[in-house]
Amino acid sequence: MSSDGVNSGRRKFLTAATSVVGVAGVVGVAVPFLGSWNPSARAKAAGAPVKADVSKLEPGQMVVVEWRGKPVYVVNRTASQLEELPQLNGLLKDPDSLISQQPPYIKGIDRSLQPNLLVVVGLCTHLGCAPKYRPEVGAADLSVAGTEWQGGFFCPCHGSKFDMSGRVYAGVPASTNLVVPPYSFEGDDVLVIGVDAEAA
Ligand code: FES
Repeated sequence: MSSDGVNSGRRKFLTAATSVVGVAGVVGVAVPFLGSWNPSARAKAAGAPVKADVSKLEPGQMVVVEWRGKPVYVVNRTASQLEELPQLNGLLKDPDSLISQQPPYIKGIDRSLQPNLLVVVGLCTHLGCAPKYRPEVGAADLSVAGTEWQGGFFCPCHGSKFDMSGRVYAGVPASTNLVVPPYSFEGDDVLVIGVDAEAA
């Protein structure tokens, strides 16, 4: 990306104001933080909701939205990622999220309001490290009990693994699924983190 020329100031502004920056489908590429429409730092610390335009999120892409000082992972899951979820149930600790933290309106194994859009707090439920997004099917370092990795999240601190719904695998230190925060939508495209769907 050019950083010179007369448009650099405007480019910087657009980068900050545009909802999705770059593509995170490649391992090693930093996952962009969403920065649009966020309230002031003081309001955020007090727990104000945070809005993010998710209309430009490409299939398979993840962005991170900061809410109450926590990273919230937002992933536009692909059809094949969703199709694989039921096959993994036997490898998971809490496949139906019976003991995991999520709002009552989040149901089913996709754990989401819009089927494709996963929204989870990006903190490992073991000791709070930030799991890495690892969407690559068949990643050699992540197979589970001889089963091919179907994409998900890997915590580098002590090796916990989560599927594309943030559901935790058996045999790892974390005991519950990644937390789903309260959230809702304004229209189809604006995600509102911190406001319950039923209250919206
Ligand atoms: S903090 Fe993630 S496995 Fe320990």
